[in-house]
Amino acid sequence: MSKVTVVGAGNVGATAANVMALRGVADEVVMIDIKEGVSEGKAMDMMQTANMLDMNTCIKGVTNDYSATANSDVVVITSGIPRKPGMTREELIGVNAGIVKQVTESVLKHSPNAVIVCVSNPMDTMTYLIHKISGLPKNRIIGMGGALDSSRFKYYLSQALKANPNEVEGFVIGGHGDTTMIPMKRFATLRGIPVEKFLDKETIDKIVADTMVGGATLTKLLGTSAWYAPGAAAAEVVEAVIHDEKAIIPCSALLDGEYGEKDLCIGVLCQLGKGGIEKIIDIELNEEEKALFHKSAEAVKATNAALPA
Ligand code: LAC
Repeated sequence: MSKVTVVGAGNVGATAANVMALRGVADEVVMIDIKEGVSEGKAMDMMQTANMLDMNTCIKGVTNDYSATANSDVVVITSGIPRKPGMTREELIGVNAGIVKQVTESVLKHSPNAVIVCVSNPMDTMTYLIHKISGLPKNRIIGMGGALDSSRFKYYLSQALKANPNEVEGFVIGGHGDTTMIPMKRFATLRGIPVEKFLDKETIDKIVADTMVGGATLTKLLGTSAWYAPGAAAAEVVEAVIHDEKAIIPCSALLDGEYGEKDLCIGVLCQLGKGGIEKIIDIELNEEEKALFHKSAEAVKATNAALPA
C-alpha cells in the first residue's frame, strides 16, 4: 500500500492529486484543506471519473483532520496564498511561512517517516524553513520548483524548435524566482543534439528569458498563479520517489558545499528514489554559470533572512 497526502486542495494541490491518481502513482491519495467541504467535493468529483478513465486510485478528501493522513509515504505541501499579477513569489513569505510551519508540524505528527515535497512559495525558502523546523534528514525534504521550471524551459524550446516536447532535453537550476532561475542552455538538446545547431543566439536568449518569467506570464493571464504544470511537476517528483525511479530531476535541495554553496535550499540536479533526494549531481559549471549560480544563491539567502524568527 502506498499513500500520498496533498496538503492544500486548491488548484495546484488538486491538480497534483488528480495527475497522481490518473497515473497510478499511489494506491491512496488524501487531500486535506482548511476550507470545509472543498477536499471532500474535489475528491468525490475525481472519483466520479474513475470508471471513465480507468482509474484505480482511492482519493479521499478531509477538512483539517490530519489523522486521515497517517502513515503517508510522501506528503506534498501546497498550502499558502498564491501570488496575484504583479507580485513576486518572495512577497508571500510572511503569510506562507506561518502556514507552512504549522502544516509541517501537523503532518509529521501523523507521518513521521514521510518524504516531504514542498510546493508553497517562495519555494526555496519554504523548503529551507521545513528543514529548520523539522530537523529531518536532508534527503527527505524536496522542493519541487526545478521540475516545473525545467518543463517550462522544454516547452519554450520545443515551440521554437517546432519539435516534439518529448524529444527535447533541458534543465533549470538556481532559485525558483523570476530573476534567480538559471535555464542551462549549454545542456539543452533535441534528441541529444545541442540546440545551437538549430536556433540562433537571440532565439535561445529569448527562450531563457521567457522561461525565467514563465510563472509570472501565466499569473498575468490567469489572474492567479498557474496550476496545471505546477501540479504535474509535484506529481512527477512524487512518482519518482514512490516508484523508486532513480530519476534525475532538478529540485530544491539543502546544499552542504555542492555547487560551491551551503546552508540554503536551491535548485540543483537531484537523483530521486525511495529515500527522497538520494544523490545531488554536482555538475561542473563554467565561469558564467558559476557566477549566475552564486548570484542566485545570494538572492535566495536574502529571502531566507526575511523568515520570521
Ligand atoms: C509558478 C508558481 C507555482 O511558477 O511558482 O507557476
